[in-house]
Amino acid sequence: MVGRPVIDLGTAHVRVGRWRGQERIAHVVPMTDRPLTTSAVVELTDKLGADDYHSAVTTALGPSEARPFYRSGYTVRRRLALLERPIERRSRPRDRRLRRARRHERDALLAIDARSFPEEWRFDHQSLDDAVRATPMARFRTAHDGTVAGYAITGIAGTTSFLQRLAVDPDHQRRGIANALVDDAVWWAARRGAVTMLVNTAEDNDAALTFYEHLGFQRREDDLVVLQRALGGHD
Ligand SMILES: CC(C)(COP(=O)(O)OP(=O)(O)OC[C@H]1O[C@@H](n2cnc3c(N)ncnc32)[C@H](O)[C@@H]1OP(=O)(O)O)[C@@H](O)C(=O)NCCC(=O)NCCS
Repeated sequence: MVGRPVIDLGTAHVRVGRWRGQERIAHVVPMTDRPLTTSAVVELTDKLGADDYHSAVTTALGPSEARPFYRSGYTVRRRLALLERPIERRSRPRDRRLRRARRHERDALLAIDARSFPEEWRFDHQSLDDAVRATPMARFRTAHDGTVAGYAITGIAGTTSFLQRLAVDPDHQRRGIANALVDDAVWWAARRGAVTMLVNTAEDNDAALTFYEHLGFQRREDDLVVLQRALGGHD
């Protein structure tokens, strides 16, 4: 049987979906503020193998979150740069291209995502929902440039805000759309008490790294990793 949405490990819960829609690859998303213990990761890994998954891929993990996975035989699949900038309250930016995202626009947003990200990083409906629900508060905005041309999802947990997703259609890039979306995200997050904003991106995404540095984000030393492991005797 493939597909238990939440695995209960006693002291922690882990959400499990299909990675990029693939039936036998588990996407592992820890649902806890504290890192899992090594024994919890071993138990999780055994359960996934018993559930007929042939491999597991984690969400992006920080160094302490990754440690118990390394100890349980997981290895690095991808490295992500983590960037941060302090934010403070400011007057509301007004860019008439920005609107609240509507449910009926989701297919168009996923099409933009598919055109702007390499296949490995593309969102589907599930990952879009996950990004919106990852934090207690979230803002989901679209940008219109004749047609829907980009979107951003931002979340806040405590005083930290997270730019969860940002994509602009290639036909509409270099027109200040991402800049406007991030300005809006920063204004919203600071108004709700956030003092810092974090964002991660593939470490070879030069356009995004240049863009974020242009907006005052600085790369942190503690990069994130996506980890993977074969399960149940599969290579
Ligand atoms: C990164 C991305 C969001 C930028 O969107 P955009 O709307 O084109 O960005 P803007 O027009 O607001 O750019 C603002 C500034 O950022 C810098 N910048 C943006 N894209 C750049 C690129 N491809 N190369 C170099 N610098 C870039 C420039 O300084 C630019 O100012 P300028 O056009 O006056 O020179 C867009 O390229 C994209 O969607 N990429 C694919 C998805 C992605 O990587 N998302 C973010 C990572 S999670």
